[in-house]
Amino acid sequence: MRQTAEHAGAGGFATRAIHEGYDERSEQGALVPPVYMTSTFAFENAEQGAAMFSGETPGHFYSRISNPTLDLLERRFSSLEGAGAALSFASGMGAISSVLWTLLRQGDEIIVDKTLYGCTFAFIRTGLAKFGVTPRFVDMRDPENLARTISRNTRVVYFETPANPNMRLVDIAAVSAIARAHGAKTVVDNTYATPYLTRPIELGADIVVHSATKYLGGHGDLVAGLAAGSADDMAAVRLEGLKDMTGAVMAPLTAFQVLRGIKTLELRMDRHCASALKVARALENHPAVARVSYPGLESFDQHPLALRQMRAFGGMIAFEVEGGMTAGRETMNALGMIKRAVSLGDADTLIQHPASMTHSSYTPEERAEHGISDGLIRLSVGLETPEDILDDLLTALDCVRPAARRRSPGNGAIPQGDAAAA
Ligand SMILES: Cc1ncc(COP(=O)(O)O)c(C=O)c1O
Repeated sequence: MRQTAEHAGAGGFATRAIHEGYDERSEQGALVPPVYMTSTFAFENAEQGAAMFSGETPGHFYSRISNPTLDLLERRFSSLEGAGAALSFASGMGAISSVLWTLLRQGDEIIVDKTLYGCTFAFIRTGLAKFGVTPRFVDMRDPENLARTISRNTRVVYFETPANPNMRLVDIAAVSAIARAHGAKTVVDNTYATPYLTRPIELGADIVVHSATKYLGGHGDLVAGLAAGSADDMAAVRLEGLKDMTGAVMAPLTAFQVLRGIKTLELRMDRHCASALKVARALENHPAVARVSYPGLESFDQHPLALRQMRAFGGMIAFEVEGGMTAGRETMNALGMIKRAVSLGDADTLIQHPASMTHSSYTPEERAEHGISDGLIRLSVGLETPEDILDDLLTALDCVRPAARRRSPGNGAIPQGDAAAA
């Protein structure tokens, strides 16, 4: 492990997720940490205020910079990620933009994987480029592609693993080693895996970012972000990116909800993983399904890497229905219990169509080049009874299948229009 966890307390993952960083004796015995709903903090005298502002004396003075409820979440989360420190944000995009704006300057290069969440892609391709940062897109499934592209100007190497939405994996140890050898920082979006399944910092990455809206919150009732890394990196992001550039600070009540969500992260992830594996296997065997991407399937081309760097394989599945986009939409519309909605990692099973929803910020040409086919469907397997999830999905696929056959040119072949687009 590269960074020592300043706050790493005793116990396993679930124990730290419940207890880390909190002593009820300092809060009148309150078992559940209180929420500090305050924007500002009074100084004992003017000298103390000046000392806090200069950083000479530690302490809270304004909640855009720090707050005791956020502080507890940050201590707990840094322990779970095996990092020196953590930082909370108003959203995942708040975390990503605050981190990248802190690390990058005009004239720098950022090398990113070809598959990214749509708004991250737009922020890097258009947002950063507007301020003189050059983005380069490489397929990081092969770390050699990074080695060939990285230059003296590269400050940041950035990727998601598994990537949203096509589930491609990146070898964190191999890519981080190349970045480090060239003096660049590796930033990993760990939203899909969570620190329960993968800990990028232990594998050599510098900074981890999250949409805490997803598995960390876990119940679809908040929008939040988190980052973790060395104490120095997090201090720089707090005082530059978060304080002065984005102001994307998490609300204390949201921190309370994320703390509650994290307490059950291990339990929930075990269930998400077990159910998703069952669903992926069933989809793989269904005649109406053309392709399934799930790191836990032996047929997944990066399954050996998944075995190396993931504890289990997560709750997200990407698949394509025979008949492309039209058949995919028909399948989504035939569902009952499963909700058609973006976001992921909730208790509820959610399904969406990346090309027209979460990844519509890519042009069709970019999607084709970046491996996001128009027929791809993204499924976030929830915590319902697994047989009910399967029943809903398989019933919908069975409904669509005869229609797909009816439209085919008479010999059972897939109709060409959408299949070609996929
Ligand atoms: C992988 C990934 N990263 C970042 C984000 C952005 O997070 P938020 O919506 O909390 O701003 C998302 C949102 O869907 C995501 O899926």
